Amino acid sequence: MSNDGNNGNSKGPILSIRNIKKTYNQGKIPVHALDDVSFDVKKGEFISIVGPSGSGKSTLLSIIGLLDRPTEGSVFIDSMEITKAKESEAPRIRREKIGFVFQHFNLLPALTAMENVDIAMRFSGIPGGKRKERAFQLLTQIGLGDRVKHRPSEMSGGQQQRVAIARAIANNPSIILADEPTGAVDTKTREVIVELLKELSKGGQTIIVVTHDMDVARQTDRIITMRDGRIASDTGSEMK
Ligand SMILES: Nc1ncnc2c1ncn2[C@@H]1O[C@H](COP(=O)(O)OP(=O)(O)OP(=O)(O)O)[C@@H](O)[C@H]1O
Ligand SMILES: [Mg+2]
Repeated sequence: MSNDGNNGNSKGPILSIRNIKKTYNQGKIPVHALDDVSFDVKKGEFISIVGPSGSGKSTLLSIIGLLDRPTEGSVFIDSMEITKAKESEAPRIRREKIGFVFQHFNLLPALTAMENVDIAMRFSGIPGGKRKERAFQLLTQIGLGDRVKHRPSEMSGGQQQRVAIARAIANNPSIILADEPTGAVDTKTREVIVELLKELSKGGQTIIVVTHDMDVARQTDRIITMRDGRIASDTGSEMK
């Protein structure tokens, strides 16, 4: 039930990106969304990815999260080459290794906070009663113990995003990927979300956040700046 990720091996990098290229050929001119991107991520690192619109940030997250495949290159999670996985294996690997947090929360509107977290664990093999217990525990842990029966429309943006974070960590994934998680919330709520992500990283969870907000990026351990599908810089944040 801890948030230390089921990585098993604490010595090697939890995530290894090797020479990733992603080329789109829809138009007349091919678009090199990612052009030879490589980096390693240690367990428990809290990383932000910044860069101009169109620089390849979301493409990179989609490839790490097995929502898309690279044109070339490899991605290893917990030393397993996920880019070699069969298409039929992708959903299980994604469920076990990755937690996603989106800008617009993407909660199921008809379900309560509890049910939204519970449903993420549906295929995990955890029995129903235990799933409910864990959903309640996670929501309580992030300060929503009194909102478990609320539906998304009955919650603030910040509360919805916290439910989405509880959902993302429900299966104890190795890595949390968040694309603009504070893009749709106010400044005060932004700090609540960032504090929560910081706490998770202190607990050993590995977090990669794409953001346009340098106030968010500055609070992370490491800032990777993308430009034209390449890593323009990769630096430890001076704020820490
Ligand atoms: N499915 C697609 N088909 C064709 N081109 C695409 C596709 N998805 C992304 N691209 C192109 O790849 C490049 C990188 O896109 P990506 O969405 O990764 O950028 P981003 O850094 O996330 O931008 P933003 O900050 O605006 O979200 C862009 O030039 C985009 O137009
Ligand atoms: Mg994007």
